[in-house]
Amino acid sequence: MLVSSKKMLQDALQGQYAVGQFNINNLEWTKAILQTAQENSSPVILGVSEGAGKYMGGYRSVVGMVKGMIEDMSIIVPVSIHLDHGSYEGALKAMDSGFTSVMFDGSHYTIEENIQKTKEIIAAAKERGISVEAEVGAIGGEEDGVTGSGEIADPKECKMIADLGIDMLAAGIGNIHGKYPENWAGLNFEVLGQIKDLTGEMPLVLHGGTGIPTEMVKQAIGLGVSKINVNTECQIAFTEATRKYFDAGKDLQGKGYDPRKVLAPGFEAIKQTVKEKMMIFGSIDKA
Ligand code: 13P
Repeated sequence: MLVSSKKMLQDALQGQYAVGQFNINNLEWTKAILQTAQENSSPVILGVSEGAGKYMGGYRSVVGMVKGMIEDMSIIVPVSIHLDHGSYEGALKAMDSGFTSVMFDGSHYTIEENIQKTKEIIAAAKERGISVEAEVGAIGGEEDGVTGSGEIADPKECKMIADLGIDMLAAGIGNIHGKYPENWAGLNFEVLGQIKDLTGEMPLVLHGGTGIPTEMVKQAIGLGVSKINVNTECQIAFTEATRKYFDAGKDLQGKGYDPRKVLAPGFEAIKQTVKEKMMIFGSIDKA
């Protein structure tokens, strides 16, 4: 069932669990994530970065594929199609193309400009029932060529953005995209607590879900995190499983060159990773 992210995150906040945003790259990714969500009765958010959207042919191709799968595969759990780290123009375009949820990432602007642009995105989204995520304090690491340094958000700025009428707020608390370095300082729970105190019932979003220790994830959920983004971990699982297929010479046996066979181990690896995350996030049987 294609919906916005609004209600699923409000339910998650209420129920003290988090909904996973799993980024998609192609048909196999999408099918694996939708199937896992349905099998485990979990709500799910399909994350689409601007780069991945282009890779898949464009936003309308993404929406067409997801809608088709939801029907063909009888997916009845709540699913949203969410633009990940959208630019201002990208967010407007994704909304016009049928996305049910968008992130406008204005974290690299001044707070005044971030507020102004976020307001405009909200105005365009509200009339169509589309949910909006905004960001304060850039998430570190590199995503689609955009590098941030792992900032700690200013809780007062978080409150200013939260009050604009967004549905979920991403705030930098030392989290970074991609693998965490050995000397990573961990999540800043003190700041997360301050953000929670100031923003009240606002579902908070934790980016950079790959490699955060389970205990930290649980502590974050206890402090109001209701959406956790995972991308790199599925990519690593997919690639490792695919490498094993080739290393074992399976592509040279029988019809092992058939792309449906080549991609099967990676597909299963994504399913397993997504299920493990859903168990940790507590979203299983919450659909
Ligand atoms: P990871 O790639 O570190 O899992 O982060 C995903 C993310 O935050 C997408 O916005």
